[in-house]
Amino acid sequence: MRVIKSFLALTIIFVSHLAQADNNVEQGAQLYKTYCSACHGAQGGMDMSKRVAPPIIAVRMHYIGVYSDKASFVTAVADWVEKQDASKTLMRGAIRKFNIMPPVSVSREDAQKIASYIYEGNVESPPGFDKHYEEMHGKQRGNYGR
Ligand code: HEC
Repeated sequence: MRVIKSFLALTIIFVSHLAQADNNVEQGAQLYKTYCSACHGAQGGMDMSKRVAPPIIAVRMHYIGVYSDKASFVTAVADWVEKQDASKTLMRGAIRKFNIMPPVSVSREDAQKIASYIYEGNVESPPGFDKHYEEMHGKQRGNYGR
């Protein structure tokens, strides 16, 4: 009986963790819309002269290439949002083109939720992005390194 009870308790803990994780991604999606999408959103498409920042899918791919597991990805993105440190950039070309990202006032906790969403959510990808990525980086990572 005791074994069953602790098994049940563990199952409940596990399931609530999963729900929590989903929740973070969902909240992250909303927070992303509020704090990031004005610059990183679909507007301007792949025409960089009409954009003010790289599309978020491009940010995701550069970060996933270096921080492939979720924990380090979330830390790296949240660190960047907290402090834009040019010596830590993974997108030097973007800094050259757009200048360094201006500070965004968002709590660490919210930045982590946003980063979870960018890592595993369904982020927007401007039409033509896949083609651009293939041209720039070859076909082998067409699934975005995931
Ligand atoms: C006012 C426009 C603007 C907003 C708002 C903005 N960004 Fe950026 N972001 C940029 C620009 C421009 C770049 C490209 C230059 C650079 O890398 O600094 C960039 C680059 C980045 C990078 C790559 C940094 C690097 O160089 O390695 C990350 C990560 C990022 N943004 C995350 C976010 C997140 C998360 C949010 C929302 C909390 C956000 N940004 C909001 C303009 C913005």
